[in-house]
Amino acid sequence: MTQTAIVTGAAGGIGEAVARRLAAGGADCVLVDRNPLVEEVAAAVGGVAVVGDLTDPQVMVRAVEAAGGRLDLLVLNAGVNSADKDPATLDLDRYQAVVGVNQHSVVYGLRAALPLMRAEGGGSIVAVASLAALHGVPQDPVYTMTKHAVIGLVRALSPALAAENIRFSAVCPGLVDTPLTAGARERFQAAGIPMLDPDDVAAAVETTLRTAEAGTELVIRPGRPPARYIAAPLPDEPRTESRGVGGSSSLPKI
Ligand SMILES: NC(=O)c1ccc[n+]([C@@H]2O[C@H](COP(=O)([O-])OP(=O)(O)OC[C@H]3O[C@@H](n4cnc5c(N)ncnc54)[C@H](O)[C@@H]3O)[C@@H](O)[C@H]2O)c1
Repeated sequence: MTQTAIVTGAAGGIGEAVARRLAAGGADCVLVDRNPLVEEVAAAVGGVAVVGDLTDPQVMVRAVEAAGGRLDLLVLNAGVNSADKDPATLDLDRYQAVVGVNQHSVVYGLRAALPLMRAEGGGSIVAVASLAALHGVPQDPVYTMTKHAVIGLVRALSPALAAENIRFSAVCPGLVDTPLTAGARERFQAAGIPMLDPDDVAAAVETTLRTAEAGTELVIRPGRPPARYIAAPLPDEPRTESRGVGGSSSLPKI
């Protein structure tokens, strides 16, 4: 049976690359973005566009309705950087917009999608986090906070969802050459800092959706194979090799 997928932040960058891959694999795609260009991407992949700001919880409700009663795959990808580094001079509107999409919209997506996945007997969800979910990035503390929140949600929620046959994982890319980073591309190139191609990340998202154990945190860096991140145990606790449930555990671990 044809699978149905929802991808957020699909007007460009990683989200568009994920949409193209999932559609090429035969999935019916609902693509969500505040940028109306998402309509062109949807038309190109034979999917449906939902234009709206994901900081509004109703936008994901509309996306799930557009999926038409079936939802197999959900990619919670939309996100932005934060321009503000010093909390003392934070612009509060900008702050709430960053937290609203990077953090709250992930919860809104789950809130809208889980009832349908449960009714269908299962599904697979990937949140696009970042290396900033796993270590502090001094250049962008607020972004770091939001991505840590996403990983915290995956860690806390994935075991219970796995028991319902819903796998919830995260991919954590390093720098990716997308519209998000376009302003700094030349600086990165001049400094010899390698960047990932969006399709490298999209391929990892697709593999994670289809085969990874629930709760996988997949690190993706230029020039290295994707590798599963396993958090260090708390002091005086033994290391557990895998907290995941179901799926493949063949990924290298770091
Ligand atoms: N580019 C990188 O270096 C990099 C690295 C690690 C993680 N990521 C993460 O990958 C994800 C995708 O980033 P990208 O690099 O493809 O960026 P991008 O800017 O190319 O794409 C993000 C998309 O999200 C949409 N979006 C942003 N805020 C929105 C909102 N409030 N409502 C609806 N749509 C909204 C944008 O319009 C855009 O189309 C983000 O979560 C980002 O944090 C990116």
